[in-house]
Amino acid sequence: MIRIFENTDISNRNSFHVRQKAALLVEFDRAEELSELFDRHISGEWMALGGGNNILFTRDVERALIVPCDTRIEVESENDEEVLVRAGAGVEWDDLVEWSVQHQLWGIVNLSLIPGKVGAAPVQNIGAYGAEAKDSIVSVDIFTPQSRTHSTIEASECRFGYRDSIFKGPLKGQVIITSVLFRLSKQAAPMLGYGDVAQEVEARGGVSLHNIREAICAIRRRKLPDTAVTGNAGSFFKNPVVERSVAEALLAEYPDMPHYPAADPTKVKLAAGWLIDRAGLKGHKQGCVGVHEKQALVLINLGGATGGEVVAFARSVQAAVAEKFGIEIEAEVNIL
Ligand code: EPU
Repeated sequence: MIRIFENTDISNRNSFHVRQKAALLVEFDRAEELSELFDRHISGEWMALGGGNNILFTRDVERALIVPCDTRIEVESENDEEVLVRAGAGVEWDDLVEWSVQHQLWGIVNLSLIPGKVGAAPVQNIGAYGAEAKDSIVSVDIFTPQSRTHSTIEASECRFGYRDSIFKGPLKGQVIITSVLFRLSKQAAPMLGYGDVAQEVEARGGVSLHNIREAICAIRRRKLPDTAVTGNAGSFFKNPVVERSVAEALLAEYPDMPHYPAADPTKVKLAAGWLIDRAGLKGHKQGCVGVHEKQALVLINLGGATGGEVVAFARSVQAAVAEKFGIEIEAEVNIL
């Protein structure tokens, strides 16, 4: 079914809860409806909107917002080792993780409680606690409005990188993701190497899918604000990837600075949260916007902030980090 909303408030369709309106918002349940949807209802510009968890609206939206609402999770095939599962773009990401744990399937449990919809997972290759969506994605089904065609993109063609994919590059604004096919494993494959995960799992009685999920949820709840209560978009900035020499110079001055290997072996990934924290900005507030006091990578709407206020605040955070460390941190959130 297709549902049309005109001149509609979208404050509950973005996790920052900024109060903006959309001239036209269209929800659809099934991929097969998209040709008709575009023929009948869309004449100008458009963009796909998932849960609005990684977006900051700074003005009312003139282009049409297209919202996938297919919430089906279906097993496509299975053998002794693995299961191929298709999830509609409108499935709540954490519902898919919960489903995988209930079915004793490994692969995405470390991505528990990441806010957002399945359709958004490949776009920024969501990741947490040593796992990334790309490790479990087989292919992504898309609709291309310009040609009114449906097609499948294999994971190998998705150009997945750290918080990156083809959907943020050449296909940005060109396609609508309608469903994602995942490969989940029946064989135990715990990933406990990140931070306190192993310790938290042990405290819950040892390695099981259920205990890992509980541990990850507990860690996230401790550090990250609940979007239902406090407007935010998770990590506002990406962790910067810098030349090895830059990291070494900083490490000489700050030996306790967290640093991680990057995909490119000549580079090193730093923790933007640590840089913001050590620039003295953790818990810092200005007007209706603040740096979250338990995780400096997260900017929060203290109530009533406009998108423009959040952007101005983010710029001041970037400037403070650049001044103290000489490092440019880039927004991870899509600013519109
Ligand atoms: N740190 C501080 N102060 C802070 C925040 C972090 O000193 O205020 C330090 C931590 O102690 C740690 C390091 O920085 O040594 C990294 O912190 P953390 O483990 O919390 O992870 P992160 O790099 O800040 C990334 C993801 C998160 C994801 C976590 C866990 C990005 C942009 N963010 O954060 O993803 O949950 O790792 O895997 O890569 C998101 O994308 O919205 C998100 C929340």
